[in-house]
Amino acid sequence: MLSPSDSKQQFFARNMRYSDVDMVVQNEAMAYEHPWTKRIFIDCLRAGYQCWVLANKQKIVAHGVMSVAIGECHLLTLCVHPEFQRYGYGRKIFNLLLDRAYKLDASECFLEVRAGNGAAITLYKSMGFAVIGERKNYYPGKESREDALIMSRSLPIP
Ligand SMILES: CC(C)(COP(=O)(O)OP(=O)(O)OC[C@H]1O[C@@H](n2cnc3c(N)ncnc32)[C@H](O)[C@@H]1OP(=O)(O)O)[C@@H](O)C(=O)NCCC(=O)NCCS
Repeated sequence: MLSPSDSKQQFFARNMRYSDVDMVVQNEAMAYEHPWTKRIFIDCLRAGYQCWVLANKQKIVAHGVMSVAIGECHLLTLCVHPEFQRYGYGRKIFNLLLDRAYKLDASECFLEVRAGNGAAITLYKSMGFAVIGERKNYYPGKESREDALIMSRSLPIP
């Protein structure tokens, strides 16, 4: 259980480890209606994707996963523990992933986001991402399927 005073603590970026995955999955299940499974995170670690967390010794407050290849990067997941949202951690870890990808020669970033995910869309737009397309009925939903917006921006972010 996290307490409000935790928000005053400092969290540092580091690579995600296999031993983090249980806590990452717990955080994701609290933050997302459609969380990734442990298996998906393990596959991402094995694939050598950029898997990062913001953490201290006790807890992980944010995680993000990005694939980088042939001059492009794709944000695969980004998540902040619900009790730590709106403290800048989402922006911080996404900027870090973009910086890593740029250093690995990516010059364009792509992501997909649920059309109803206003918080994430606002964050991405504030970081210079623009909608470049949509996929109708792409995501499973509680009652009906949900459209995906495809967003992109060039790197680096000035
Ligand atoms: C989307 C998410 C990662 C944002 O993380 P966060 O740490 O809360 O975001 P930040 O504090 O870095 O916010 C940066 C900016 O994003 C926008 N933003 C973030 N949350 C918002 C919300 N709930 N409503 C509106 N704008 C929001 C704001 O512009 C904010 O800047 P401000 O606080 O100065 O107004 C977080 O809400 C989350 O984990 N959601 C569940 C998982 C998810 O949807 N991931 C994205 C999948 S594509």
